[in-house]
Formats: sequence, C-alpha cells, structure tokens
Amino acid sequence: MFELYLDTADAQQVASLNQSLPVFGVTTNPSILAKAGLGVNQALPALAKALNGQARLHVQVVSQTAEDMLAEAIKLHALPYDIVVKVPATRIGLAAIKLMKAEGITVLATAIYSVQQGFFAALCGADYLAPYVNRIDAMGANGIAVVADLQNLINQQGLSTKLLPASFKNTQQVLDILQLGVASITLPVDIAEQMMNHPAVQPAVDQFSSDWQESFGDKLAFES
Ligand code: G3P
Repeated sequence: MFELYLDTADAQQVASLNQSLPVFGVTTNPSILAKAGLGVNQALPALAKALNGQARLHVQVVSQTAEDMLAEAIKLHALPYDIVVKVPATRIGLAAIKLMKAEGITVLATAIYSVQQGFFAALCGADYLAPYVNRIDAMGANGIAVVADLQNLINQQGLSTKLLPASFKNTQQVLDILQLGVASITLPVDIAEQMMNHPAVQPAVDQFSSDWQESFGDKLAFES
C-alpha cells in the first residue's frame, strides 16, 4: 500500500488534511521541530492524536557518533508510537544504520543527495530512503533522476527498501516522482493542499449547483 506522509510538526494541519486524504504518517526532522518550537515529547502525542492514533511517525536522531545514535534510536524506538528512526546517510550514519538494524529498529536513511549514498544506505538495511528532490534540483543536479536511478537499483537488486522522497517545492516535482513507482512520499502541507486544488474545479461545481437549483430548487438528489 502506498504510504502518504506529511512533512510537518503542525498537528492541526495534519488533522485537517487527514479529513480529506489517507495520511499514513508524519515525517519530522530537527529543523522542522526547532521551527515549530516543539520537542519530540510534545510533537509526537499531538501528531499521533491528529491521525487518530494510527500514524507512522519518523523522528531523526541528533547524536554525532554511531554508538550514540544507536542509544538514541533505542530510546525513540521504545516510545509508544509506530516510530521510524531517521538517520542522516553519512559515513557515521551508515554505521549507525547497521547497528540499528541488528537491534530490529525500523530506519529511514535521510539527507540523501546522490544515488551512491542512497544505494549504500539500502545495502546497510535501511527500510526507507529519503532523497531530497528539490534540494538536489537547487544544486543544479536532477532530483527526479536520482530517485529514478535509486528505484532501478532497488528493483534490480531485489531490495525491500522503500523510497520515501522528500523536499518538494512544486506539484510537478511530486508528479514526476510518483510516475517512478515509489512506495511512499512525504509532502509539505502547502504542496498537499495545492494538489487538491485546480482553478477549474470550483467553477464547474458552481455550475452544477446553479443548473440544479434552476430545475429542482432546494431538493436533494434522492428527492428529485
Ligand atoms: O525531511 C526532509 C525535508 O523536510 C527537506 O525538505 O524543504 O527542507 O528541502 P526541505
């Protein structure tokens, strides 16, 4: 099943979007939490509640060594939520991912800017990879191509790693990524909202209403 995530710590917006979309969970990172002024212990209960207790929540470690990342991951993993531990896919992060997988912790390798970096993280056992599509584009490279190459390698090698592309600044980037058959995606709230809106839709709906009222007044469909 495709997993749709929202990339935010704003529980109110998550709850609101979850009314119209099948939100599978929420991804956070240290910058998102810092900007929201929310620690993990404040953010997680609110985000889980926003998704009626059925939420996969991605939380990043902030430690600097593999051993400390593992210790932090063990604590996060023990929280009473469906937690995925995010680990930056640096050399140290890759070592930490190996240690975490030996402990049975679900891991997302994050801050992926290149195919080789993502592939190594997948080989280390990462359950998810988060390539940063817009950030790659902004550096003059091609975020869509990075995700396409990673998906091909995952398929070729029969790896169970899921791609969870992140960092979007427009809906076209999202559509290009979805065409690649990724297993999941995380969207900023504004992009998710844009994807539900098209300027032609409301005029079409208004036309239906006025045509109906002209012929049937206030009657509902089953009353006509
Ligand atoms: O979780 C990673 C994602 O939030 C990065 O997005 O918009 O900061 O490039 P952005």
